Amino acid sequence: MINMSEVLNNNAPEKKQVIYSAVQPSGNITLGNYIGALRNFSLFEDKESLFCVADLHSLTVRQDPAQLRKRSPSLAALYIACGLDPEKNIIYCQSHVPAHAELSWILNCYTYMGELNRMTQFKAKSQQHADNINAGLFTYPVLMAADILLYQTDIVPVGLDQKQHVEICRDIAQRFNSVYGDVFTLPEPYIRKSTAKIMSLSEPTKKMSKSDPDESFVSLFDDPDTIRRKIKRAVTDSEAQIRFDPENKPGVSNLLTILSALKNQTVEEVEQSLSGLGYGQLKEAVAQTVIEEFAPIQARYKEIMADKTYLPTILKENAARAQYLAQKTLRKVYKKVGLYQP
Ligand code: TRP
Repeated sequence: MINMSEVLNNNAPEKKQVIYSAVQPSGNITLGNYIGALRNFSLFEDKESLFCVADLHSLTVRQDPAQLRKRSPSLAALYIACGLDPEKNIIYCQSHVPAHAELSWILNCYTYMGELNRMTQFKAKSQQHADNINAGLFTYPVLMAADILLYQTDIVPVGLDQKQHVEICRDIAQRFNSVYGDVFTLPEPYIRKSTAKIMSLSEPTKKMSKSDPDESFVSLFDDPDTIRRKIKRAVTDSEAQIRFDPENKPGVSNLLTILSALKNQTVEEVEQSLSGLGYGQLKEAVAQTVIEEFAPIQARYKEIMADKTYLPTILKENAARAQYLAQKTLRKVYKKVGLYQP
């Protein structure tokens, strides 16, 4: 089981906590997304949790409409396949709940250009998509703040790369509260220290990313042969010694991190269990562990997708539940800022 003390931030007040997270349906879900985000979502089963398919965020980068239309329900199915119960949690698509876009507009008026300019993701994505630096890419963190704040969220489980976005969300909320009273709960990020970042298999000094070439990541949809092939090709080094040393041995360290995360063991334990073995054996161990981890998820995913009515029904019901909660916050905000409501 996962060790709950292994977190950067976890203030646990007595009231029933609200957990909120989201993933963009903009590509293959990778092993990195799984370890950094999805897998941790089910830690919060007993809390009031919302897991969102952030389809509006995806539009900040050009999407193929036909693909996006498929990827959104597919990601929702994956949430369920990873163990989230859609009766206990609210699993839904962002665009089905208009309150997100509505609150986002209001929060835009309480966010400074200077703050948004400092966001590292904005800088990185502007470089990646130099031909399409649109206003949505710039205000992306404001929509994300709206997602989080609408539900009076306490905890946001995310990968390390999203920490800055949760921080700006807190800043916006604090600014708003200081003018209008306690309207928003201030959220805390929940980031698992040891597994916060899974690196690319082909360039292990870079984060594993679904927008990079195919061989650099393992997708949650890869079959066992593909998983084995990709991991076998992972870049290592010429030292031929299994040792955790991210600076000098980023490739081997990344493989050890993956193994440690999936086996719920410390890196030291994993390192010891492999002492004296070669890289081939390390890779085989990683491949086998990933294959075993993904097999039940893939099987469950197939079942969910085979039932043509199940998922649409769940998503409609859950969007209605989300909208009900979101509307409470939105109404309060409209009132506070002085929008006339007959
Ligand atoms: N920006 C997040 C990512 O790219 C996805 C996201 C959108 C999100 N809204 C959110 C994550 C709200 C946590 C909370 O991974």
